[in-house]
Amino acid sequence: MSRTCPYHPPPGYANLRERGPLSRARLYDGRVAWVVTGYEETRRLLVDPRLSSDRSRPDFPVLVPRMAAARLTALVGMDPPEHDVQRRMLIGNFTVRRVTALRPSIRRIVDERIDALLAKGEGADLIPEFALPVPSTVICELLGVPYRDHEFFEEQTRRMLMATSTARQAADAATALLGYFDTLIGAKLAGKGEHTPDDGLLDELVEDRLRTGELSRPDLATIAMFLLVAGHETTANMIGLSILALLEHSGELARLRADGTLLTGAVEELLRFLSVADELQRVAAADIEIGGVVIEQGDGVYLPNAAANRSAEAFPDPDMFDITRSSRHHLAFGYGVHQCIGQNLARAELEIALGRLITRIPTLRLAEPLDALGTKPGGSVQGVLRLPVTW
Ligand code: HEM
Repeated sequence: MSRTCPYHPPPGYANLRERGPLSRARLYDGRVAWVVTGYEETRRLLVDPRLSSDRSRPDFPVLVPRMAAARLTALVGMDPPEHDVQRRMLIGNFTVRRVTALRPSIRRIVDERIDALLAKGEGADLIPEFALPVPSTVICELLGVPYRDHEFFEEQTRRMLMATSTARQAADAATALLGYFDTLIGAKLAGKGEHTPDDGLLDELVEDRLRTGELSRPDLATIAMFLLVAGHETTANMIGLSILALLEHSGELARLRADGTLLTGAVEELLRFLSVADELQRVAAADIEIGGVVIEQGDGVYLPNAAANRSAEAFPDPDMFDITRSSRHHLAFGYGVHQCIGQNLARAELEIALGRLITRIPTLRLAEPLDALGTKPGGSVQGVLRLPVTW
């Protein structure tokens, strides 16, 4: 299902919820899968070890054709215990302490983009000029990937993740990205990397895990690709849609401008309300009885967190955007063993990007009506392709 308003879940989710916390739906290839819309059921299932995340299983469900190719075999595409090994290698780089240390560079990156916007004139498309370059630059600096290659990897990411891509286009994009990382790893191995400013987590992984034989070169390329893709595409869409939602809810924006201490809570509410990464998918590795039904072994299961995050049992008056509500228990970063590894980083980026933008450009407003912006098709990271603004 596609959204009709970029910041609300597809209207069909509410109909599904009326049928109960779990419903059956037919996928494009004719296969029937479960769709979970209940908040409690989503949480229970995401911590249930009988639900597998292993994308290499032949019975893993396919939501849109592009997902049949370019299957992610690292991190979110694996089950414990293999998954734990990869996660443990990375988690130390994304702690609150590590992210706090990155805040000054995130602020520098954000301010440089705002300087460029202000220098240019009184209007811009904020997707290419702010929402995308901020997280792209941040993840490049963190990983040690040269930002000068951003047009290449942003384009391939779009091809890989856009619902309208064919399986072939998505597979070609994944191959191109893996090839890019293999070459970069080769350069780092040979010591040919330009050591400043292009050093980062990837260099550490090359030294500590690849040279020691703990990780193979293809596995390292896959992990690096995933971190780059997950690190910029989700956050970019979140920044874009957050600006849009705030501009469309002027009362909430005014409250936020008047009291900067509301920013942390506002980011949580934006994460809940927008739920940009809302296509969590699993396959049942054994029968599971839940919510009055039995999910049978081999059944595909979709857990659209955009639905769980709008359930009234967890969030009273769920369709209301309220920056002071308590939303921290949202599922926008998933839940359980695969819960987003980059969530502290994403929160810091959102706080700094939104906080600086609304402070430095207080007259910011949309240059076109909401209806003219269009929404991304379902099966993509949710967002808008354009965000024309003026000030
Ligand atoms: C607002 C931005 C973001 C959102 C909404 C988001 C959302 C999510 C969600 C929902 C999952 C769980 C998927 C599942 O269980 O199937 C996830 C996992 C993941 N995310 Fe994020 N993410 C964001 C930013 C980031 C950033 C900045 C990084 C940085 C590198 C990142 C890296 C990852 C990784 C590596 C995983 C897989 C973790 C695992 O399987 O153990 N994400 N993310």
